Amino acid sequence: MERQSISNQFIYGGDYNSEQWLDRPDILARDLEMMQKARINTVTLGVFSWSTLEPEEGVFRLEWLKEMVDNLYAHGIRVILATPSGARPRWLAEKYPEVLRVRENRVRSLYGERHNHCYTSPVYRQKVRIINQKLAQTFKDHPAVILWHISNEYSGECHCPLCQAAFRRWLKQRYQTIDALNHAWWTTFWSHTYTSFDQVESPSTLGDSGLHGLSLDWMRFVTAQTTDFMCEEIRALRQAGATQPVTTNFMEDYIGLNYYELAREIDVVSWDSYPLWRYQSDSRTALNTGMQHDMMRTMKHAPFLLMESSPSSLNWQPVSKLKKPGLLLNASLHAVAHGADSVQYFQIRQGRGGFEKFHGAVIDHYGGEDTRVFREATQTGQALQALACVAGSQVSAQAAVLWDTESRWAMERARGPRNEGLFYHEAVFKSYQALRKCRLNVDLVQVEQPLDGYRLVVVPMLYMFRAGIEERLRQFVQNGGTLVMTYWSGIVNESDLCHLGGTPHGLTDLLGLRSEEIDALCTGEVHHFTAGPGAPLYTCRNLCDLVRLQGAQPLMTYTDDFYKGYPALTVHSYGKGTAYYLCTDAEEAFYNDFYREMVSRTDLSPILPHLPEGLEVSSRQDPENEYIFVQNFTDEAIALPAPADAALLFGDFSEGKVQGCSTVVFRQKRS
Ligand code: GLA
Ligand code: ZN
Repeated sequence: MERQSISNQFIYGGDYNSEQWLDRPDILARDLEMMQKARINTVTLGVFSWSTLEPEEGVFRLEWLKEMVDNLYAHGIRVILATPSGARPRWLAEKYPEVLRVRENRVRSLYGERHNHCYTSPVYRQKVRIINQKLAQTFKDHPAVILWHISNEYSGECHCPLCQAAFRRWLKQRYQTIDALNHAWWTTFWSHTYTSFDQVESPSTLGDSGLHGLSLDWMRFVTAQTTDFMCEEIRALRQAGATQPVTTNFMEDYIGLNYYELAREIDVVSWDSYPLWRYQSDSRTALNTGMQHDMMRTMKHAPFLLMESSPSSLNWQPVSKLKKPGLLLNASLHAVAHGADSVQYFQIRQGRGGFEKFHGAVIDHYGGEDTRVFREATQTGQALQALACVAGSQVSAQAAVLWDTESRWAMERARGPRNEGLFYHEAVFKSYQALRKCRLNVDLVQVEQPLDGYRLVVVPMLYMFRAGIEERLRQFVQNGGTLVMTYWSGIVNESDLCHLGGTPHGLTDLLGLRSEEIDALCTGEVHHFTAGPGAPLYTCRNLCDLVRLQGAQPLMTYTDDFYKGYPALTVHSYGKGTAYYLCTDAEEAFYNDFYREMVSRTDLSPILPHLPEGLEVSSRQDPENEYIFVQNFTDEAIALPAPADAALLFGDFSEGKVQGCSTVVFRQKRS
């Protein structure tokens, strides 16, 4: 899907909690000057402003916000305007306790914290609707307001009576009859048969927490109800006449919601990126963060927004490390390289009190421009100006790794071969990082998304087959695609009921094998596999699938235990394509070698012909140009053969080297 860029330049700015400074006009005025110096062109307002906007029920005070928006606009700064539902005013909870969440132990929370409203409560929905409409009425035609920021980091669940009733309605809609629900949840087991939808209670450690069908549908309901809440927020804006695009900000590896569902309802995906830089090698952290960026981009196959990141340290991790010199720019351009059309921070100005008073900010408590962070934020703003031609360009990937949140919910709740951890994220990451080292852009697709257009599709641990994924994978291989599937795939259907008749379900002929048994290793236990004497010996952990070959060729075999000699990696031709099956949780070295060789033998075309170790490459393209980002997250300068027919667009490439902790960008005409 093509999306017009929200602006023809990069959005640069961040959350500006100006409501905390209304009694300090001197500071607000100074902030404006400093923002301009830092090349900030957009700020996010109003994320947690409800009690300032509506100090008493029905008493609205939007003048300060209007003045702020006008003032910013007069200084050339645009606004992303938030709806305030992420934190509620005290009066609302006092007068209508139903807006407070009930926890899984059925205890209602006290007033406090944030991101903890009941998403079913008609009162909460009504109050949010009213304030959203006031905002929309005031700002729908304001030229400064370019985007609506719906709530903030939706998350969590509520077990109140209203949510229970909504859950039952949702189940009734899904299953129609209680018999259908009983079948899907396999409730004859332990005599848990329901005779009415009214008997259903959300999962709880006080009741049912091991009924997997219930837990899985509860997670689906939480996503559906949160999405519904968000849509109601958006509708309120639309009904009041707002036409600007909308977004909501996602979090890293948050599995309480299926983000792909929320993404359908918003115009642009945005997320808050807080990597633990300097905890391990930054190259490694960058690879991990890159996977998140790619996931956000793939949700809509369009540029996304980096809605939040820290200008320096965090304050909510065990240890709050500073960003070393250069890292702010490098990490910001990393998001851009993966498809971001913005670099935004939490936060522009540090507050004096409260939970986040020590969180990094563009303007700190000292308040001057002569700080390292301010200087580096300014350099980042300048860099984004220099790269303006890249904004709005797309990322095109030949390789995709399948990621599925629903399958993960089911797999991690099931009691099965390994209750000490299945390492789903790690399994996805192992293929992802190896493909990135092969100089490829990589999409992170969800089971519902189309697969045509890819040359390689990797399916790691897809425990649950749903949405006809088997058929689409079959067509993909039939038409000439290369598939890599791993152990613990195609085990259950969309209700978490085990497939009968052999697994990976529906694909045993395509893979030329059947998974017969799966062995689990204890934590710390290591097995090995190899292509044969003289070939590398790889280690594997956690799970070892024992397969019966039905046409596939074994490429590598196990060397330990009673299944020594059994296949560990197989290949099978099908239609015009090829299907590999990896039986075990292999070490990264295996993935690196495996994909390197595959890329050399297939029609996958890497972005650059050669890339020295320590560098990362990504590309974006518009109809005329390809923009090649080469990034170095190590401390040493690394020599790079300059890409053919490419001009240096940005960065220090003196002596043909990418300097330590820096980025170079080349522009190449597309033929
Ligand atoms: C989240 C929130 C912000 C802020 C930052 C701090 O992403 O959305 O309001 O709390 O974390 O890192
Ligand atoms: Zn509730």
